[in-house]
Amino acid sequence: MKSNSNSKAPIGVFDSGVGGLTVAREIMRQLPHENIVYFGDTARVPYGSKSRNSIIRFSGQIIRFLETKSVKAIVIACNTASALALEAVKEETAVPVIGVIVPGARAAVQATENGIIGVAGTEATIRSETYTKVIKEMNPEAVVIGKPCPLFVPLVEEGFAKHKITKEVIDIYLSEMRRTEIDTMILGCTHYPLLRSRIMAYFGEKVHIVNPAYETAMDLKKILNERGIANESGEAASYEFYVSDAAEKFTRLANTILSYDLAATKLVNIEEY
Ligand code: DGL
Repeated sequence: MKSNSNSKAPIGVFDSGVGGLTVAREIMRQLPHENIVYFGDTARVPYGSKSRNSIIRFSGQIIRFLETKSVKAIVIACNTASALALEAVKEETAVPVIGVIVPGARAAVQATENGIIGVAGTEATIRSETYTKVIKEMNPEAVVIGKPCPLFVPLVEEGFAKHKITKEVIDIYLSEMRRTEIDTMILGCTHYPLLRSRIMAYFGEKVHIVNPAYETAMDLKKILNERGIANESGEAASYEFYVSDAAEKFTRLANTILSYDLAATKLVNIEEY
């Protein structure tokens, strides 16, 4: 595929499911004129417990699907896919591809004063140590403490973000991290920003909480400007949503994450790509 210099072309955003909407909503907020095509791989979620090979294969298929929508840039909103597949799949397309790990790591390195950074994420993200490697490239002295928190994803998807059980699960996963000297903590999974206020309350004011979505949208803006492909038409943006399964459930959850009503979500047979 050729690079796409049409500034009105959409941004492709993808995730293993609904969680990547926390990144899409930040792009909508910071880049209100950019059109978006979102793909959630709801048939194959969670990615957090899958192997690197599967995640690379899934991400490649999704990129080929997004190419059929003539996207001008692709954002891998999923931390797990960013950690395991970004380097492999960005070779396969001519459009710029960014993930959430580098922006999240950079925000944490800028925020930390004592250089001790916590990262919460899926099993696969933490096991890959991608956050640790990227942080250490930026600050070799940094100490990174990772913790997989797999139950956070179903808790959010079940609408339990404010439920008392979630407080207990946060304590089970993060009590050890709270006893360390971390002064900065990365919410290294798409769903965790939806637990942000609970996690902030748990750590208290001494720990700075980083949501990589914010910095990712800023990076996207920079890339679009550098390449001269930012949409400066001033027109209202249009958004399209695709999933690989359970479109109704996605629409229902999406309407709790995004601040406007999603009309419809379309089904795609992603194995065809
Ligand atoms: N989107 C995934 C991530 O950010 C979380 C859900 C999953 O395991 O697929 O890592």
